[in-house]
Amino acid sequence: MVLKLKMGAKQVSSSLVLLALISILVVSVSAKIRDSTLKKIKEINSNGPYLGLLTVYPPEEAAFNASRRFRVGTVNDVKVIYVRCGVGMVNAAAATQQLADFFNIRGIVHFGIAGSLDPTISYGDVAVIKRVANTAVYDMLNPNAQTTHSHVTKDDLIIGEYHQPKAENESSNRLGRVAFRGERFFPPKGEPNVDISETWFNSTKKWVDLAFQLVDKVELNETGLPQKPKVVVGVNGSTADISLENLAYRTFLYDEFKVSVHDAESSAVVMTSSSNGYKVIAIRGLSDLSGADKAGTPSYRDITANNTVAVLRDFIQILHENNEA
Ligand SMILES: *[C@@H]1O[C@H](CO)[C@@H](O)[C@H](O)[C@H]1NC(C)=O
Ligand SMILES: *[C@@H]1O[C@H](CO)[C@@H](O)[C@H](O)[C@H]1NC(C)=O
Ligand SMILES: *[C@@H]1O[C@H](CO)[C@@H](O)[C@H](O)[C@H]1NC(C)=O
Ligand SMILES: *[C@@H]1O[C@H](CO)[C@@H](O)[C@H](O)[C@H]1NC(C)=O
Ligand SMILES: *[C@@H]1O[C@H](CO)[C@@H](O)[C@H](O)[C@H]1NC(C)=O
Ligand SMILES: *[C@@H]1O[C@H](CO)[C@@H](O)[C@H](O)[C@H]1NC(C)=O
Repeated sequence: MVLKLKMGAKQVSSSLVLLALISILVVSVSAKIRDSTLKKIKEINSNGPYLGLLTVYPPEEAAFNASRRFRVGTVNDVKVIYVRCGVGMVNAAAATQQLADFFNIRGIVHFGIAGSLDPTISYGDVAVIKRVANTAVYDMLNPNAQTTHSHVTKDDLIIGEYHQPKAENESSNRLGRVAFRGERFFPPKGEPNVDISETWFNSTKKWVDLAFQLVDKVELNETGLPQKPKVVVGVNGSTADISLENLAYRTFLYDEFKVSVHDAESSAVVMTSSSNGYKVIAIRGLSDLSGADKAGTPSYRDITANNTVAVLRDFIQILHENNEA
């Protein structure tokens, strides 16, 4: 399957780095913004609004460069600004804020790969996230903390209960328990300086509703995958600065938070966009099973990244047809 992206009059094939292909004007936004950069940004903005596209790390790109590059171009006639934020929540939030502060955008489509926590979602599938939580905001408590402290799950994560086999004279271990708190959020139209308790950050409902058109429509590559890949719309997501490769923790998150996919950026992008009052959606392909993978499983990263971009491309088209981009 060759993905076609229209760039001006030229047809070009795409990959996760589709945006390298649409690169027309490159703006580097770093700590010190020169007058010439501001002038260029002003010029770019006068041609807007754009759709912001934000991804994490195209496998082919070289190591992190702290001065982020914003690439301006078109995908299917839609004006876009693309940026790669780098791994982790701080990078994701910072790049989102830069998109919001500097550019004339209508909203942000965030995309990348992730791990599945959900037995029904597997390698090469692509998930459209409906809402996402930062699942690593917690109190780390002593073992003798008796009552459940979590605000957002039914139970704390009692680490001692995972201690198998237990030492004969020991009922638990000293890591105690983890109580989940949720985030502190500044709503776009809230009282100045007042943050509120919030656990779930939502993709824009209208965009999620439009994304249902993608189901059974996008041509996904199934070569070498253990099952036929699919698009799943409306899943709950989990984000944390944790690379999740542990079956017990995977199961805990799935049971307690009802989250199907895990990554290290989505909640930061959705939270930051929401706080700034921008439309947003997160699209994540599943390249691993977060610790449920059988030993010797090959890497499905590249094919999943390509499937994710296939979904992104069709989604941009749907936004365009509905005057959302
Ligand atoms: C589909 O995936 C296979 C294996 O990952 C790859 O070799 C092939 O080029 C892909 N096909 C298309 C049309 O992208
Ligand atoms: C980052 O990108 C800039 C602009 O292209 C380049 O001059 C610089 O050498 C890069 N820095 C690193 C650490 O690669
Ligand atoms: C368990 O037994 C070991 C070996 O006798 C001892 O060193 C340890 O302190 C005991 N742990 C507890 C919690 O009593
Ligand atoms: C996300 O949606 C839920 C359910 O509608 C709502 O309770 C929550 O406040 C929303 N989150 C934000 C940040 O608006
Ligand atoms: C997402 O979370 C909600 C609220 O806990 C739950 O009702 C729903 O079943 C979850 N969705 C999935 C696909 O698990
Ligand atoms: C992903 O897409 C790129 C560009 O079309 C292609 O070169 C590459 O072979 C694809 N990889 C896989 C695993 O399908």
